[in-house]
Formats: sequence, C-alpha cells, structure tokens
Amino acid sequence: MFKPSTIWLTGLSGAGKSTLGKALASSLKHQGIPCCSLDGDELRHGLNKDLGFSEADRRENIRRVAEVARLMNHAGLVVVASFISPYRADRENARNIIGPSAFHEVYLSTSLEVCEARDPKKLYARARAGEIAYFTGLSAPYEPPLQAQLTLDTAHLGLSQCIDTLCEFASRCIATPDP
Ligand code: ADX
Repeated sequence: MFKPSTIWLTGLSGAGKSTLGKALASSLKHQGIPCCSLDGDELRHGLNKDLGFSEADRRENIRRVAEVARLMNHAGLVVVASFISPYRADRENARNIIGPSAFHEVYLSTSLEVCEARDPKKLYARARAGEIAYFTGLSAPYEPPLQAQLTLDTAHLGLSQCIDTLCEFASRCIATPDP
C-alpha cells in the first residue's frame, strides 16, 4: 500500500529538478507504484503554453499544476512535480490545493553560480545578453523555502547520491502506517 502524494521539487533553472524528478518517477514505476512526472518545460508546451514568466503567469502556472496534481493524487497516482515555483506564496497555495498531508516540498538548493555555470539550455547567457526578461535568479526573484522537508545541493552531492536520497525520502512520504 502507498499514499498517493505529490513530491514537489523547487529550485533554480539548472539545479537538477527535471533530472532528479524523472529519476524518481522511473524508480517508483520500477517498484510498481503508479506515478506521473509533471515538468515545467513540458507543461509549458501544452496545458500552460498560454503563460509567460510574469509573477501573475507563474502564479497561474503553479495553480494549474497543483490542481492537476490534486486530481492525479485522487486518482491514485504519485505525482513528481518539477517547477522553479519561485514564490513562497505560490508554493503555499499549491500545498493548500493538494492538501498539506499530501504535499512534500523538496528544495534543490544549488547556487545561482553553479546553475549559471552549467547553463544546459544556454538560457542564463541569453538572459545576461538581455534576450530573456524576468529570468529567475537574474532579473526575477527566487524565494527559497524556509522549511523544506528535504534540501539537496546537487553541486555538493553526486547524482546517484541525490537520486538515492530523494527516492528514500519519497518512500517515507508515501508509506502508509501499518494497520
Ligand atoms: S515557474 O517559475 O513558472 O515555476 P517553470 O518551472 O514552469 O517556471 O518553467 C521554467 C523553465 O522555463 C526553465 O527551466 C527554462 O527552461 C524556461 N524559461 C524560459 N524563460 C524563463 C524565465 N524568464 N525564467 C525562468 N525560466 C524560464
């Protein structure tokens, strides 16, 4: 038995949210646990393609994702949500929509310097060149969680250690107490 819950990964672009989120979803599937990965870049190509990166649009992005996660949890799926979700108030709103007991916040605390040095999509370079407005960490804020249930700095831990820690954390979150 497991409790369908949402594991919510927040952090800067390039912190490793998509990589770790997909690894967690794949591990859960291998264990026979039905789950779905929701990822910012993917949802912004479909459900949320009408939204940009203003504060209001990010709020709506996170609200829709939380509503989808809630429906999926109710349908019996574990949800792994990977979104910058830079505003504390928006993550609190997601927590309330999903339900506090089903919402588990994981903070990828990888620093701006490291994320910018990685720059896998060359977005930081474009933002520095003035080609992308409201870029999180440079020209738009990121409000770190004050009490994340798990914090991982992907600059200081190896990938497999991050994956193992995240998978163990998720197992505890979705475990149901013995009858
Ligand atoms: S969120 O802030 O609304 O939670 P979300 O996680 O959905 O963002 O999308 C972030 C992704 O959009 C980034 O990984 C990056 O690839 C892309 N992106 C494009 N423009 C921006 C921007 N101005 N700020 C941050 N990410 C951006």
